[in-house]
Amino acid sequence: MKKTTKAKMIIAAFLAAVMFLSACGASAPGGSQKQGSQETETQKPKSAVEPSEQGESVNSAEYFGKAGEGQTGLNSEAASERETGKQPETASEGGTEAQSETADESAAMESEVQMTEGLKWWQKTNVCEIYIRSFNDTDGDGIGDLNGITEKLDYLKKMGIGAIWLTPCYKSPQADNGYDIADYYEIDETFGTMEDMDRLIAEAGKRDIRIVMDLVFNHTSDQNSWFIESASGKDNPKSDWYIWRDAKPDGGPPTNWRGIFGGSAWTWSETRGQYYLHTFLSEQPDLNWENPEVRSALYDVANFWLDKGVGGFRMDAVTYIKKPEFKDGEPDAGDGMTAIHNMTANTDGILDYLHEFKDKVQRGKDIFTVGEANGVSASELPQWVGEDGVFDMVFEFSHMLIDLNSETDWSDRREWSLADLKRILGESQKNTAQNGWYPIFFENHDQPRCIDHFFPELSVSSTSSENSASFDSSASSENSAFFDTGASSDIGASSDIVAASDSNVASGSDTASASDADTDVRMAAKVIGTLMFTLRGTPFLYQGQELGFRNVTWDVIDAYNDISTKRHYEFLIDEGKTVEEAMEAVRHFSRDSARTPMHWTAGENAGFTDGTPWLPIHDNYKTCNVETEEKDPDSILSWYRSMAAVRKAHEELIDGSFEEILNEHKQIYAFIRRGSSHEAIVLTNFSREEAEYDASIVEEAELVISSAEGGGVPGILSPLESAVFERKK
Ligand code: GLC
Repeated sequence: MKKTTKAKMIIAAFLAAVMFLSACGASAPGGSQKQGSQETETQKPKSAVEPSEQGESVNSAEYFGKAGEGQTGLNSEAASERETGKQPETASEGGTEAQSETADESAAMESEVQMTEGLKWWQKTNVCEIYIRSFNDTDGDGIGDLNGITEKLDYLKKMGIGAIWLTPCYKSPQADNGYDIADYYEIDETFGTMEDMDRLIAEAGKRDIRIVMDLVFNHTSDQNSWFIESASGKDNPKSDWYIWRDAKPDGGPPTNWRGIFGGSAWTWSETRGQYYLHTFLSEQPDLNWENPEVRSALYDVANFWLDKGVGGFRMDAVTYIKKPEFKDGEPDAGDGMTAIHNMTANTDGILDYLHEFKDKVQRGKDIFTVGEANGVSASELPQWVGEDGVFDMVFEFSHMLIDLNSETDWSDRREWSLADLKRILGESQKNTAQNGWYPIFFENHDQPRCIDHFFPELSVSSTSSENSASFDSSASSENSAFFDTGASSDIGASSDIVAASDSNVASGSDTASASDADTDVRMAAKVIGTLMFTLRGTPFLYQGQELGFRNVTWDVIDAYNDISTKRHYEFLIDEGKTVEEAMEAVRHFSRDSARTPMHWTAGENAGFTDGTPWLPIHDNYKTCNVETEEKDPDSILSWYRSMAAVRKAHEELIDGSFEEILNEHKQIYAFIRRGSSHEAIVLTNFSREEAEYDASIVEEAELVISSAEGGGVPGILSPLESAVFERKK
C-alpha cells in the first residue's frame, strides 16, 4: 500500500472516530440514531455489582480507541453519511486489480430471507454461554457460582448480551461437571441455592437478559432417584424409565457399542441383574424416551423452569434420545467396539418425540430452544429448525469437526483449508436462510479455543515442530489456504511461515517474533470476532472467547481434569499410540482448554476466586483479562464490544440476506449482508499475508470498521485484517 494512502486512511479514521464519538454522546456503544434500545443499559440498578462493573453508559473511546494513534475502530462516516448522502472515498484508491474474482463472477449464493419485522427477541440479541464452574466464584470454594454470574451481569450487558445459556447448575454428583443430574428441581449447593437462582433470573431480567437453562434429557445421574428406583429390581413403577437389556448369552453387554467417553456403553447392575445403556459415562444412564411417563416427567421439568421465567432451553445431547434396534455394529477400532454415535445419533422417529416436546413445552411461549445436534447434517436442518422444525436453532458441528476425521479418535486429524470452512459455513447459512435460524458459534465448553482451532499455524497446541508437521509447509498448497501463502503467487509471500510461527509461539525466545506472534493472535481473534457478529444468525459467545483465551498445553495426562480427555487418552494408548502422540491429541482437543477459569483481573487467581481454583488458571492471565483489556482500545475484548455495537447499529447485519462473495479466494472469506436499505460487505483475511481483492466489491461503500491499523483500504486486506463496509442500496 502506498504510504500516502495509509496516512490518508489514518486521518480518515481519526475524523471518523471524532465524528462518531460526538454522534454517540454518552450513549451505548455504536450509539447511532438506530440504537435506541441499547440505551436500556444505562438504566440498570446499582445493586449487587462492583462499581467498575456498573452499567453506566459506556464511553465509546474505551471501545474504539484513541483516534489518531492509528487505532482501529468504528468509522462513523458510514453512519453519518447515510444522512448526508456524501460519497465515500473512491473504492479504487489504494486498490488493485490483482484478483480475478468479482461479485458477478463468483458463484454467488444468495439466500432469500424473511426481513426483520417478523424477527423475535432472540434473533436480534447476542447469547453468552456461561460455564458456571469457571465463571466467577463468590464464596471462595474455588468453583464459580450463581451469585458470581449475578455479579457480572453488567459486564455481559456491555457486549449486548440478551441471553445467558447457563450450563447445568442442578443437583449433581458432578461426574461430568453437572451434566449428570440427580434432581432437576434443585440447585447444587456448589453453585448456590434456589433463592440465588431466582435472584439471578430477576436481576438479569432487569437488564433485559434472559436465562436459558441447559436441559440434559438424554440421561440423568445414576444418583437420580428415578434411576435408583429403576435399578432396584425389575418390578417397580420406574422399571422401564431407563434402557435395560439382558446380557448376551456369554454374559457380555447386549451390543458392542462404545460410549462417547470410551469403554462399553453398557454397565451391569447387580441389583437389577441387567445391563443399562449410557451414551456417556456409566454415571449417566440413558432415559427411555419410548415410555410416555418419562417424556411427561421431562416436560414437567421444562415447564417448572418456564414458570420461573427462564427464556429458553439448550437441549443437551438431544440427538441420542431415540434408540434404534439393539444390534452390534462393525468394529471401528482394536477394541472390537463401534462408536455409539454412529449407531444411535439421529435415529428415525426422533423428530416425533421432539415435536411432542415443542407442543407440550414451547408452543405459545416467547422463548427459544437450541438443540445440541451432533449427527444432524446441514442439509437436514430444515426438518430440525424453523416453523415446521422442532427447535428454533440447532448447534450443528461441521465446522467444529473440520480438523477431525472422526470424533472418536482425536489423533485422526485432517488437513483443511479456508475453502472447507467457507463451504461449511455457507451450507449452514443457506440451510437456515428460509427455514429457522442459525446459532453462530466457534467455541463452547466442549471445544478447543477458537484461535487454536481455526488458526492452527498460531496454535499453542503443537509444541514441537515435528508435531506440527501435518500442518506445516508440507501441507498441500491446494488444501491449505492458511499455510500456502504462495496461493496468490502474484502477491509474493513466504511459503514456510508455519514452522517458524510455531517455534516462536512455543518458545517465546525471540522477543521481536513473539510480539509479532501476539499481534497475529490478536488479529486472528478479531477475525473470528467479526464473523461472530456478521454472519446471519444469533451470536453465541463462549466465556473467555472475547478475551482471546487459548488452549492449555499441560505436559502430562494427570494434569488434566476432564473425564473425556482422560478416556480419550486411554483409548489412544490402548490403540497403540505413543504417549507423545496421545498427548498431542489431548493438547488439541481437551475440553479443559475451554474450562479454565475466567480472567477478571491481572491479580491473584485472575480475580476468579479467593480460594484455590478447581482448575488451574491459564498462565496468560496477566495480559489476557477483563481489567487489562478494557483499558486497551485495541484489545480483543474491545473488538468484540465494537463488533456487537456494529451489529446493533447496522440492521442488515441482523436481518439481511447472506451472499458469499470471493468464493474462490484462498485467503479471504467475504460475504454481503443485504438489508432493505443498506448492505454490509464483510471481508476477513484468514492469512498472515496481505490479500488483494477486486476493489469494485466495495465501490460506493464506506468503511464501517477495520481491525488493521490504517486498514479498510478498498481492494486490500492487510494480514489477518477484518473489515466491514456498508453501502446504501
Ligand atoms: C453434551 C455436553 C457435554 C456433556 C455431554 C453429556 O455434549 O455439552 O459437556 O459431557 O453432553 O451430557
